[in-house]
Formats: sequence, C-alpha cells, structure tokens
Amino acid sequence: MFIGLDLGTSGLRGLLVDSAGKPVGAADTSYDVAHPNLGWSEQNPGDWIQACKLVMAQLRDNHPTEFEAVQGIGISGHMHGATLLDKMGEVLRPCILWNDTRSHVEAAAFDAMPMFRALTGNIVFPGFTAPKLKWVAKHEPEIFAQVAKILLPKDYMTYWLTGAYSADMSDSAGTSWLDVGARDWSDDLLEATGLTRSQMPTLFEGSQAVGVVRGDLVTNYGLPQGVQVVAGGGDNAVAACGVGAMSEGTGFVSLGTSGVLLAGRDGFTPMADSAVHTFCHAVPDQWYQMGVVLAATDSLNWLSRITGQSPAELTGELGTKLREPTALQFYPYLSGERTPHNDSTVRAGFVGLDVATERVDMTHAVLQGVSFALRDSLEALRSTGAQLESALAIGGGAKSAYWVEMLATVLNLPLELPEQGDFGAALGAARLAICGVTGAAVYDVMTKPPVAKVVVPNAALVDDYQVLYDHFHSGFPAWKALQ
Ligand code: XUL
Repeated sequence: MFIGLDLGTSGLRGLLVDSAGKPVGAADTSYDVAHPNLGWSEQNPGDWIQACKLVMAQLRDNHPTEFEAVQGIGISGHMHGATLLDKMGEVLRPCILWNDTRSHVEAAAFDAMPMFRALTGNIVFPGFTAPKLKWVAKHEPEIFAQVAKILLPKDYMTYWLTGAYSADMSDSAGTSWLDVGARDWSDDLLEATGLTRSQMPTLFEGSQAVGVVRGDLVTNYGLPQGVQVVAGGGDNAVAACGVGAMSEGTGFVSLGTSGVLLAGRDGFTPMADSAVHTFCHAVPDQWYQMGVVLAATDSLNWLSRITGQSPAELTGELGTKLREPTALQFYPYLSGERTPHNDSTVRAGFVGLDVATERVDMTHAVLQGVSFALRDSLEALRSTGAQLESALAIGGGAKSAYWVEMLATVLNLPLELPEQGDFGAALGAARLAICGVTGAAVYDVMTKPPVAKVVVPNAALVDDYQVLYDHFHSGFPAWKALQ
C-alpha cells in the first residue's frame, strides 16, 4: 500500500493505493489562505501539518488493514512557496505562496540579470521563490538574518514526517535558484539573493526516498512503522505522472481555477521569452513545459458570482450544439496573465457588448476567451518545439462537454476525456512512492488513464474560430493600451 498526498492551495487530499496503483480510499480536508495585504497570499505551515494528521487519521480509521500495510508516501505540493526555518527547524514567518505578487519589483530586478533566464530557463515571475527572499531581506531583515533553511511547501511536510531537509527537482525548478538543465542548485543565483547552498535542502529526484517516518509520529499518530517518504514533486509535474504525461508528445490541458497546457519533454529546451515555464519533471532525465492561464474556471466563477447563476446553470443555457464564435470578445485576465504576456497588471474585460447581448452570450464569450488564452499558450509551447498531437482534458471545467468541444475546436486538437476516477496529483504522488520503494520502472507505473471519449475539433467551425482567435490575439496590445 502507498499514500499519495496532494498539498493544494485550499486543502490536502490523501489517496491510498495498492501496489498496482489502484485507489482503495481517499480523504481530504481544507485550510485557509490569508491575504493580509493587497496582492499578498500566505499560509501557516502548521495548518498543513494539522491537515496531514487529519487526513492520515481518516485513512487509518476508514481502511485500518490497508493503512497498516503502507510502505511509502509521496507528496505533491503547490509550488514556489517560501517556508523559512531557523537553525532549530522552527518556522520563522507564514509561508509566502505562489500567487503572492508582493515581490514583483524584486522579480523584475532579477529578471533583468541575464544569468537568471540563462540558468533557470524561465522568466523570474513575481510568484517564484527567489524574489520573495529578496523581499524578506529588504522588509524583514531580522527574519532574513535567521533563515537557516528554505523549504518548498510539500518539503516542509516531508521534514515534519521524516526530519530530513529535502527538495525535488520539479518543485525546485520553480525557485529561480536551480540550474534547471544541470538539475543542481546554482551558487551564482543563490549569491545574487544573499544566500548560500547551506541554506538549501538536499536535492533528490521525485521518486527517490529521502527518509522514513519518524518514530514519534508512529507512536503519537498511528502512522505505520518504517514507511519511506519519497521526494515527490510540484503539482503540475506530479499531476502529469498521474496521467502518464512524461515524454515527448504527451500532455494535458487542465481547466482548473487556472488553466494549464502541459507537454512532456525528453530534453531541456527552454525559451524564457515565450513566458512558457520549462521545469524539471518529477521523474529522472525528463523535463516538461507548460503555458499557464491564471483565470480559467475562475473566469466562469466570476461570471457566476456576478449573475447569481451557478457555473453549471450558465453553461447549461448554451445547450449542447457548439455555437459559432462570437465577435463579443472576453479578455480573461482577471488576475493578470503569465503565458504569453507575463503581465501581472493587465486586467480582464469584454469588448463589443451590444444592447442585444444576453447573459448566455456573455457565458459563451467567457468560455471562448479562456479557450483563446489557452490557444496563446499552445502557440507559445509550439515555439519551443513541443509537439502535441492530442491532449488529455482534465480539471473541473472539463465536466462541461460544450467547453471541451469549443476548446478542441480552438486548439484544433483532439482532446481525450479520461474515465471517471482518480488520476490527479494525489495519484501521481502515490505512483512516485511506488517507483521509489519497489524500484518499479517509471513507464510501467505511470500509465495513461483509460480514455472514455475523444472530443474532436468541430470541423465546420475550426476556420471561424481561427478568425476570431486572430482578432483576440492581435487585439491584445490595444486592450492593454486602454488600461
Ligand atoms: C505553477 C504554479 C501552480 C501552483 C499552484 O507555476 O504556480 O501550479 O503550483 O497550483
């Protein structure tokens, strides 16, 4: 038996699987994000530990026999967060999260230093970890002076479980301190932040074991004895392990709060200018690239709040037959945008509202705008050489058959809908633990889920959507200029 933990932004999910990777039980719990200032986003690492205790207790109570047979734990985590520890291993301040933009000035300053893009293969985005430490050095010097170790969120859980200071390649690739091609910390990048290698945890590949669960946790919380904890990975890399998207030609599009278009890569082929993220994969010798659209289902949720109709009611009004594209454009930049614009200040809006525009037209425009933003990401991904012939469609938004058909048509790519079941980051994390503990081969364990349905582009509408996408894309500078 193995446990995959998915430390998400709003909650922790635990999945118990057998050694064939088949889920046998799940548990979850939620926690809060604090926004003490505009653009700030923080979490108390102690809340993750409480959540971990709860989830473990639920799994143990509901599946006592299986729980006793657990051999390994893998953890997936939200990326880029800065968990700062003193020399005793005590947390110095709340963790500054991936969606916290307070350090945009520091990020821009690092990004202007050519070595950052050259070594990391990425733009230094405001949400990445290095600029956060520069912000702390400037605004909280007494805390910065005490920083003995910097851990990513899931690695703090690993530390609590095992006592080991560890990090994996995929999560570390989002810090702006990793030489992403060489899979090693860069002393030069650390020095630019006023840090040294001694403040960084030991690096592992995602499936490598970093330690065993501490004896006192076994006694106090009934965790099984001698359980190995593997290094795990950043959420998108681990989700890719959960759907078998590790190598060239495989990938997924995720319609979650944010939208992600991810492609597995056999080599390191960065193109930072495209605002595509190029990160190490959670499995050895692989990388992945992704475009990130910050407000995907978040755009529909916004319309839902404004109209007082649930997202399902809104999409229900569209019917089942894909409509023609609409000249009413929606720029979905409610929280700024990462790919391809790298612009944290641009904002969203409709262009072309008419006195005859109805709610259903606005819903259509919102789905279309998010689909066009994902097409921007696809083009950016292609500019790096990534090839995608098809992609799995996952995330809450993929429950709308209408949206999936529209997206397939906009991307002009067949989209595969997996059968119902667990195939996200928690499964990917459990799969990393299986590989690490049993020595099973990555490609035997990390298979693609059975596909329930392939949604092909609507051939009659591909060209029409292309024309409107071209308008959307070429209209961006004018939209930006208005703000
Ligand atoms: C990736 C990213 C997100 C977060 C939150 O760059 O910011 O995947 O990890 O999910």
